[in-house]
Amino acid sequence: MGPGLVNITFLAAGMLFILSLGGLARQESARRGNIFGIVGMVLALAAATLSEKFDNHLLLFAMMAPAAALGLVVAARVKMEAMPQLVAILHSFVGLAAVLVGISGFIATTHFHEVEGAIHLIEIYAGVFIGAITLTGSIIAFAKLQGLIGGKPLLLPARHFINLALVLASIGLGVYFVQAQHDGGLVPLLIMTGIALILGAHSVMAIGGADMPVVVSMLNSYSGWAAAAAGFMLSNDLLIITGALVGSSGAILSYIMCRGMNRSFVSVIMGGFGTGDGGAAPAAGAAVVAGEAKTIDVSDVVNFLNEAKRIVIVPGYGMAVAKAQHPLSEVERILSGKGKKVRFAIHPVAGRLPGHMNVLLAEAKVSYEKVLEMEEINEDFPETDVVLVIGANDIVNPSAEDDPSSPIAGMPVLQVWKATTVIVMKRSMGAGYAGIDNPLFYKPNTRMWLGDAKKNIDALLAKFQG
Ligand code: TAP
Repeated sequence: MGPGLVNITFLAAGMLFILSLGGLARQESARRGNIFGIVGMVLALAAATLSEKFDNHLLLFAMMAPAAALGLVVAARVKMEAMPQLVAILHSFVGLAAVLVGISGFIATTHFHEVEGAIHLIEIYAGVFIGAITLTGSIIAFAKLQGLIGGKPLLLPARHFINLALVLASIGLGVYFVQAQHDGGLVPLLIMTGIALILGAHSVMAIGGADMPVVVSMLNSYSGWAAAAAGFMLSNDLLIITGALVGSSGAILSYIMCRGMNRSFVSVIMGGFGTGDGGAAPAAGAAVVAGEAKTIDVSDVVNFLNEAKRIVIVPGYGMAVAKAQHPLSEVERILSGKGKKVRFAIHPVAGRLPGHMNVLLAEAKVSYEKVLEMEEINEDFPETDVVLVIGANDIVNPSAEDDPSSPIAGMPVLQVWKATTVIVMKRSMGAGYAGIDNPLFYKPNTRMWLGDAKKNIDALLAKFQG
């Protein structure tokens, strides 16, 4: 394939990636967005591998085939709950690629013209720096999410100074690297790589398990910038476009997640938040909740639902863990068939991934128009007869609004307590991800339906069908 055709194919692939991101922004068009992305990637791979730049296509395909097969198997097998760690480990590959491309690009370059040469060296240096941080940061994020290492933040004394010293040393070495050019430039480049690897590992070690999803999205952004830097090094426009798309969308996603949790981006990357174990112990600062919760069983739930006209279902992480979305979708169809208005309310950080609940509900064939975002439905709770909270906790915690001492104070929440009756499904009275008690469970209009969400919904379905 000649360079002209390669460039045109790259341009088409770049446009498909932009269309893909546009499609992924809405649930109705997400499938189409995915298809655009797949076609774009196939085109990009075809153009890159069939380019006349390579003379050993056989070797290239021999390397790619097992990797593609491995990718297929891993993607087909991964559980929805394990998606963040898969994404994290994939980012580490992007980081590793950027490091290898940068170092080999430096070794292979022989001519360094004045200004152009200096710019090229800066591209190499920046690409390797970001790539190395992404590599070890992503490996640590993977290990924390996978439970291979504890989720507790590692808070070394003077850790911010350590990070600052590492960054300053890298900048100093960078100045030396650009001046040294090819004579002796490799040594500062390799020393900086080592420093950046330590920096990546150390900064993610300092962040608690509770903030890992934001970290993964942030590393996603870094991996994009590393790819864009590699694109500059290789003079590859497609890599620059794709890297910039990934870099900016990852940054926007991190910002949205932080806003949904009422945290600042800086407070997340500075680390130190979260116990990392999903919040077994109440976090400091939360007011202690006293009172008695009223428990109910499946027959009571049937009665409440039969009498209700307007029902809202609020899914959370527990629904994903229990895999209760399929029977839940059946229950929704039965209730809608009885003429009731049934809708789903989705909090922006419900579950553990952006769009986690939307994906599960779509998989269970819940129709899109019944799935509403928080801002679309929050005002409707006072006119709702029954809210069914299924495996959600923090996202329906009223202390975010009423208790300024709560660690989640100010976080926007679904105001389910304003409905006539709230039925909360979970296994115990335990805390959710933020590790804080939930006064909702003790409100006079709340009923606790304790047990595994899937078993309970199966029992409910059996009652309706029987
Ligand atoms: P959580 O607050 O984590 O609550 C989930 C609840 O599900 C738990 O209290 C648990 O109670 C229950 N549960 C677990 N397994 C269950 C099962 N098999 N059957 C029934 N219930 C079960 O989840 P949420 O309300 O979805 O809130 C999400 C949290 O994650 C927020 O704090 C958010 O800030 C955080 N977070 C989200 C994201 C994104 S992007 N979504 C990213 C980072 C952090 P029991 O143990 O008593 O059953």
